[in-house]
Amino acid sequence: MAEELRAHWDKVYEETPVERVGWYEAVPELSLELIERCGVGTAESVLDAGAGASTLTDELLARGWERVVALDLSASALRLTAARLGPAAEKVTFVPGDIRDAAVEAQIPPVSIWHDRALLHFLTSPEDREAYAMTVRRTVRPGGWVIIATFALNGAEYCSGLPVQRSDAGMLGDLLGPDFELVEAIDYVYRQPWGDERPYVYTRFRRKVGA
Ligand SMILES: C[S@@+](CC[C@H](N)C(=O)[O-])C[C@H]1O[C@@H](n2cnc3c(N)ncnc32)[C@H](O)[C@@H]1O
Repeated sequence: MAEELRAHWDKVYEETPVERVGWYEAVPELSLELIERCGVGTAESVLDAGAGASTLTDELLARGWERVVALDLSASALRLTAARLGPAAEKVTFVPGDIRDAAVEAQIPPVSIWHDRALLHFLTSPEDREAYAMTVRRTVRPGGWVIIATFALNGAEYCSGLPVQRSDAGMLGDLLGPDFELVEAIDYVYRQPWGDERPYVYTRFRRKVGA
């Protein structure tokens, strides 16, 4: 199953121009804004979980972030980002692999910011979602931040032909557990390249300092 999923995502990125995928953003403005609001210095680590071929990595490097980690199941997606970045790709830690896999988790350094736009909703079983939450708990430093953008309760039921789990901020808070406090939740309607609307909820949590 994991292998089939990897093949699915590799095929998407190998066969679709990145500007035509149903989640493309030329500049991920809201993600950047929420990262900025964390008030973390650019020498600290930020992870993009399910980075795909997003330009978030490019934009973070352009803003001086020195420790950017891009994780995705699709090595093809990460290769697109690396090719786009050219020599600057050397500054990025690329982690190809499944977020649910303990061997992959072991490759993620402790981070001050965990960012995920549109990965978590593909994890639809309680077991997979708990594995994700465990990785967040083991990876985000006390006082660090978790930004999750996911399909809202009124959002789509499928993406890229796969079923998704829609959420609100309360559900995400329950998933992360009591060490994480919700700081803000923003309803945001994303417009796909062909004009369809996709309602998301963007959430920002803080890990309690002593937790
Ligand atoms: C809808 S795309 C979003 C990509 C990117 N965050 C963006 O905003 O452009 C979802 C991404 O999650 C990745 N993904 C799906 N399941 C995954 C898993 N179990 N582990 C790691 N990445 C996964 C896919 O390969 C894909 O790149």
